[in-house]
Amino acid sequence: MAKVAFIGLGVMGYPMAGHLKVRGGHEVTVYNRTAAKAERWATEFGGRAAATPAEAARGQDFVFACVGNDDDLRSVTTGKDGAFEAIGSGAVFIDNTTASAEVARELYAAAREKGAHFIDAPVSGGQAGAENGVLTVMCGGDTEAFDRAKPVIEAYARMVGLMGPAGAGQLTKMINQICIAGLVQGLAEGIHFGKKAGLDIEKVIEVISKGAAGSWQMENRHKTMNAGKYDFGFAVDWMRKDLDIVLAEARRNGAKLPVTALVDQFYAEVQTLGGSRWDTSSLLARLEK
Ligand SMILES: NC(=O)c1ccc[n+]([C@@H]2O[C@H](COP(=O)([O-])OP(=O)(O)OC[C@H]3O[C@@H](n4cnc5c(N)ncnc54)[C@H](OP(=O)(O)O)[C@@H]3O)[C@@H](O)[C@H]2O)c1
Repeated sequence: MAKVAFIGLGVMGYPMAGHLKVRGGHEVTVYNRTAAKAERWATEFGGRAAATPAEAARGQDFVFACVGNDDDLRSVTTGKDGAFEAIGSGAVFIDNTTASAEVARELYAAAREKGAHFIDAPVSGGQAGAENGVLTVMCGGDTEAFDRAKPVIEAYARMVGLMGPAGAGQLTKMINQICIAGLVQGLAEGIHFGKKAGLDIEKVIEVISKGAAGSWQMENRHKTMNAGKYDFGFAVDWMRKDLDIVLAEARRNGAKLPVTALVDQFYAEVQTLGGSRWDTSSLLARLEK
């Protein structure tokens, strides 16, 4: 049992912190910008709610965060009353936010200056993965800190891997998003074509999902896509934030991502259709408008 803090109780963080308490059996202190959510969590799970990230981080063995983007992450770490004001020497900060590799390297260096450790640890598996505690966690950082953190992270994960030094977890998550972008557009075009051809989409997917075209997106999203339902899941706004990070990194490392850049623009069109909070499978809505 370890002393653990969790900063950011959103769609992902709230259940993840819950698993650290219930499944991991750890002593958990939470912080959330909107304090009412932290109070609700503390009542539901029997932990402690702190008033600032610094207060949450003081005296902990592990400090987790899952906030929105690079700036949000800086604000809860190196910002005023941020966790790095109070994090102890030897403690490990585990960041589950999807952010840039650059901010991961920056915070790794800032943590080391304090004698603490930093692991970038973005996740895949969505809201359902967080609620069921079966996320995939892609880590970057030092082996020794990772080895200590891994059994704690496993409270909310099915797969936890160290991909390389600081930033490597975020780079791996970028590959995950590159693969998803092209794949979902392909799936949207397939369903769109099938409807135009007058085929029974359910029947089509039942058969082709068992062949070489099968994917998690096909299995889990075809029904709702076919029904034109998108008010759930991983929001288009979040996907555009992630693709922005991906395309900036590609400009730096010279990778050619023509399909990813195109699909990013398709998502921009979905936003103009009012789909900012729709699931990423809403690429089909754009084809059907
Ligand atoms: N949702 C998914 O399916 C999914 C899947 C994989 C990865 N992710 C990634 O996980 C991260 C969190 O996603 P989410 O869906 O949990 O988002 P969310 O529901 O919007 O929650 C964001 C959390 O961050 C806090 N926050 C945001 N900006 C802050 C700031 N400047 N200072 C302090 N706290 C701040 C929010 O506090 P308030 O409660 O006060 O707003 C909230 O607790 C994102 O990087 C996202 O890309 C999400």
